[in-house]
Amino acid sequence: MTAPEREILAEARRRRTFAIISHPDAGKTTLTEKFLLYAGAVAEAGAVKARAGRRKATSDWMSMEQERGISITSTVLQFGYRAHTINLLDTPGHRDFSEDTFRVLSAADAAIMVLDAAKGIEPQTLKLFEVCRSRSMPIITFINKYDRPGLEPLELLDEIERRIQLRPTPATWPVGVAGDFRGVIEQTSGEFVAYSRTARGASIAPEDRHSPADAAQQHGASWDRAVEEISLTEEVSGGVDSKSFLAGESTPVFFGSALTNFGVRHLLDAVIDLAPAPSPRASDHGNPRPLEAPFSAFAFKVQANMDPAHRDRVAFVRVCSGHFERGMTVTHEPSGRPFATKYAASVFGADRDTIDNAYPGDVIALVNANDVRIGDTLFVDASVRFPPIESFAPELFAEARPKDVSRAKQFRKGLEQLAQEGVVQVLSRVDGDRTPVLAAVGQMQFEVFSHRLQYEFGAEIRLGPIRQRIARRTDATTVTAMATTSGVEILERGDSTLLALFESPYWLDRLVAEHPDWLLDPILTGAITQN
Ligand code: G4P
Repeated sequence: MTAPEREILAEARRRRTFAIISHPDAGKTTLTEKFLLYAGAVAEAGAVKARAGRRKATSDWMSMEQERGISITSTVLQFGYRAHTINLLDTPGHRDFSEDTFRVLSAADAAIMVLDAAKGIEPQTLKLFEVCRSRSMPIITFINKYDRPGLEPLELLDEIERRIQLRPTPATWPVGVAGDFRGVIEQTSGEFVAYSRTARGASIAPEDRHSPADAAQQHGASWDRAVEEISLTEEVSGGVDSKSFLAGESTPVFFGSALTNFGVRHLLDAVIDLAPAPSPRASDHGNPRPLEAPFSAFAFKVQANMDPAHRDRVAFVRVCSGHFERGMTVTHEPSGRPFATKYAASVFGADRDTIDNAYPGDVIALVNANDVRIGDTLFVDASVRFPPIESFAPELFAEARPKDVSRAKQFRKGLEQLAQEGVVQVLSRVDGDRTPVLAAVGQMQFEVFSHRLQYEFGAEIRLGPIRQRIARRTDATTVTAMATTSGVEILERGDSTLLALFESPYWLDRLVAEHPDWLLDPILTGAITQN
């Protein structure tokens, strides 16, 4: 192995690339901010919100985020902690944008699932957690807001097990009930780690370690109860176990409060100690590309007009192998064309810093990468193609027409651009009416689409309902066989994926029962592109 190859492996080993998933308001933003505080990337908590505020002020359509207090766009943060480099991929919290979250997760090696101690697993985000689970993604659980009254720890663990079939293995256990939270038992040492509050949680919470005997003396019944409960769960779950965690079967659980910083250090340490470093990514043919092989990456997010002053288009790519150096020429796999990476950046909201070097696990924002679509591979030297990113079957459909027909050109341009970003999927009927049909997983996707089409492309649209409500991926053979079937309509996506749309589950269930050999797949594999 050459010295540069050894360096790539060493850099990859130092990296942790993960995403935080949660329902809105569970505390994802607060926790992200506290990670930066603990990593020394910000001197005082509060900086992220200030920057987020600035970002909102510079963007038109992001005013929607501000109005609704939701986060639509994802951010990539890179910071150092304990001689490691952490890449934190932010995801929109709202269920309506789970498609975007799903794509971001394809670039992460692990996820932190944040739950509100008073609410447990909320139905809104259940699907997202189930998806992580079904993909065998390693998940660390953080039970947040323990500074306030909440559910019993055993009840929360039971929910995780029951609802997402993930075996919870406590890494810490709270001492004192929710609302009177004094610290945690650390599973590895059995010691008591007591936390102290700081003013507004703006600085790191001091921690004091105590032996079990001291803790028992100080906290009496609260301590005894915590010891009893953690022992009980350990007996059942077998304790934190790296193998089953990495296989996506068990989840280490941490208790804390992002607001008061309780438990934040334990959680961040777990990212280093438990979460996996990048590993070779399987190509389309199943052969993993070694980490030290020449540069390769795939695009998991495309975002246009992040800054209206520039009107540009940014492709976010995750490095899978090799050493990226800004300025290098890479090959865009689908077109076979060379692409010069002069404008490579790391992006934090709308703030950009030029990035000069990147290694496996890192995310690069390629500015003006106009041909790069979601799912596309970029490489140097030996050719590689990574598998397409899976997408959800849409559940909502609407016909889109420009309000003013003289704006048809702007309408088409916006449609194409926003489809490429995956804001919605754009379908067209294979026969007859060519009115575009928008397909989405959440209603708010339509709202963002309309808003952006109006403000970025100058085309107001009218959305009209259609009768169909269920979609399945199908193929040409099945379409031919279905020709005389009633209750189904065939639509095509820009990447040639064929979709069968049904008005009710009744028609679909009947077809599946009568023709088990027909392709009617709820998972839409394939890049979301519009040719
Ligand atoms: P999100 O990104 O997941 O949507 O959640 P975010 O961090 O914005 O937190 C949502 C609300 O919950 C915020 O309150 C935040 O301060 C609060 N919060 C977060 N973590 C904790 C915690 O550990 N304990 C308690 N008690 N509250 C927590 P807000 O009133 O909506 O906003 P703000 O005025 O406090 O900023």
